[in-house]
Amino acid sequence: CSFLKEKRRSEVLEVLCAGLARQEYRGYDSAGLGIDGDKPGEVVFFREVGKVAGLRKKIAASSIDVNKTFISQVSIAHTRWATHGPPSDRNCHPIRSDEKAEFCVVHNGIVTNSAALRAVLQNRGYVFETDTDTEAVAKLIKYVYESRPDKRITFTELVKTVLKELEGSFAFVFKSSHYPNEVVTARRGSPLLIGVKTDKKLKVDFVDVEFAGQDNDAMIGDAGLPTSPSSLLAPPSANPKVLRTQSRAFMSEDGLPQPIEFYIASDASAIVEHTKRVLYLEDDDIAHIAEGELHIHRLRRKTGDETPSQVAATRSIETLELEIAAIMKGKFDTFMQKEIYEQPESVVNTMRGRVNFDSNQITLGGLRAYLPIMRRCRRIVFIACGTSYHSCLATRAIFEELTEIPVSVELASDFLDRKTPIFRDDTVLFLSQSGETADTILALRYCLERGALCVGVVNTVGSTLSRETHCGVHINAGPEVGVASTKAYTSQYIALILIALQLSEDRISFSERRNQIINGLHEMPAMIKKVLEQDSTLQQLATTIADNKSLLLMGRGYQYATCLEGALKIKEISYMHSEGILAGELKHGPLALIDENMPVIIIMTQDSLYPKVQSAFAQITARKAQPIVLCNEGDEGIPAGAKTIRVPKTIDCLQGLLNIIPLQLLSYHLAVKNGADVDFPRNLAKSVTVE
Ligand code: G6P
Repeated sequence: CSFLKEKRRSEVLEVLCAGLARQEYRGYDSAGLGIDGDKPGEVVFFREVGKVAGLRKKIAASSIDVNKTFISQVSIAHTRWATHGPPSDRNCHPIRSDEKAEFCVVHNGIVTNSAALRAVLQNRGYVFETDTDTEAVAKLIKYVYESRPDKRITFTELVKTVLKELEGSFAFVFKSSHYPNEVVTARRGSPLLIGVKTDKKLKVDFVDVEFAGQDNDAMIGDAGLPTSPSSLLAPPSANPKVLRTQSRAFMSEDGLPQPIEFYIASDASAIVEHTKRVLYLEDDDIAHIAEGELHIHRLRRKTGDETPSQVAATRSIETLELEIAAIMKGKFDTFMQKEIYEQPESVVNTMRGRVNFDSNQITLGGLRAYLPIMRRCRRIVFIACGTSYHSCLATRAIFEELTEIPVSVELASDFLDRKTPIFRDDTVLFLSQSGETADTILALRYCLERGALCVGVVNTVGSTLSRETHCGVHINAGPEVGVASTKAYTSQYIALILIALQLSEDRISFSERRNQIINGLHEMPAMIKKVLEQDSTLQQLATTIADNKSLLLMGRGYQYATCLEGALKIKEISYMHSEGILAGELKHGPLALIDENMPVIIIMTQDSLYPKVQSAFAQITARKAQPIVLCNEGDEGIPAGAKTIRVPKTIDCLQGLLNIIPLQLLSYHLAVKNGADVDFPRNLAKSVTVE
């Protein structure tokens, strides 16, 4: 954050710690911050392994004068999900350039050529103190600064020069003793937004983008470090051109300078309690904040230089709709539990204004203009990761049935690894809760380049995916904080069903089927509520299986996705090994795992594949398994004595929405029983913004 307003140090620390706590779901291996010290140019760091609560304790136990006030200041903070170097005090951000901390940086993402940079800098005598990729950036910026004989380089130019040498993905915030009260922030591939808070109304609600500046402001040269590390040794070029500044500063309506606060964050939840006015940076934007002014510059890369016409010339200041209550736990112990319980409302929010239950009509405004292209496409490809991928699997069959277009479902990383052929007449749907998953974004850019129609199905408004796709549907599940995705899954599931319904609206032969589905959707919230009432039964069930090493979930057809998603929930938060098995594959391997000690949940809700699942049931009980049967209320066909989890019956393609809820609850109770940190499972992050 950057303040041009009198603030006490204690207030600033609170802003940083509270903001970090809200970003903690992005990574929680360690947390740290850097604030202005008592002497000019001095930076005070606090770093702690583990959660932000630990960092708070460390600050409270220190002797720092929290009452000191500052008229203007810049502070940076970070919560880490380790990529290079284990979580430890020394690898914790902010990362400094040297002992005096002339430059400090926080970084989200991965610099993939950091090893080459590190080697070059080490050859130049720089001694590294961390294992992080980020330190190469902190040292490189110092190197560039020092190699400038007259040191007359703006902070922005300096950062620009450094960024040109970096490969990988990043969102950075830089602070420097050479540029007191200035901050530079930049992104490529990792999300970044700036919140603006003033006491008065802003005169402008956009910021101009600065396209001026030649590549001769690059001092390092354009050869690139990995292939030619010696470019670092190149002599400095002539003095850089002074950039023509076109960006508009913030002014109050009366045109006078005003107290102003800027908050920079990876996502809006960290700053919404301070301001709802935000602007989202685009890839290769570099924002500079100084003396209450914000200027946005563009980085020109070595290849693919763009002209202003290819990139919007302004960044508009948008008003967030996010309410602070939506990101608080309320009466629940954990976010995950709260989010499981929100599902009766979140599914309604996904359908609100889109489903007319009287006329059985669907209106997805975000797709309207693109429906003819979608209906004509040669095939539909779903691309996603994790839980989002499972929502694609869960709805693929109904999508194919209603649209009669072949649908393939792809994990983003594998899709990219295979360099999958994609054509102009393909429609590709990108599913993502966060809208920031690196692999999914890369897959999107790959498909954009090949001319396919790219449709986003995203929860987070303003996210990279929602901005870069041609069109799309927001799932409107509300902010999801628990790392294990729950309500986003059910909302994605419904959003995909709505898209399939919309695409098939003019097919008379499907009207009966469509009406049944729409009726099923109408009943869904009440049915979900009913399933949630079984919470205590599932808690008990968790007690009986918590000590097992493994748990298998078995089903087929629509329920295969439920098995995969249930197993994912269980392994990610309770750390119990769990596998989703396609019952049709039972005889081809998994049957070997079955004996009297292996707990199995078999999904036997009544759809057309019920008889086939019955035979799988018979095959495993013949091998002494004692499966827990997830079945419909009132199903008499379940052998007496079998342990059951009962859910209401709905139409086949929607049954997965109900079947997943007991598995979410079960995983939750298993995690609690095993003493795991439900919202922050070890080694995982909510939003995986690195490849
Ligand atoms: C991470 C999260 C999962 C999520 C997956 C995809 O692994 O822990 O909950 O399903 O990323 O994320 P996305 O935001 O693209 O849906």
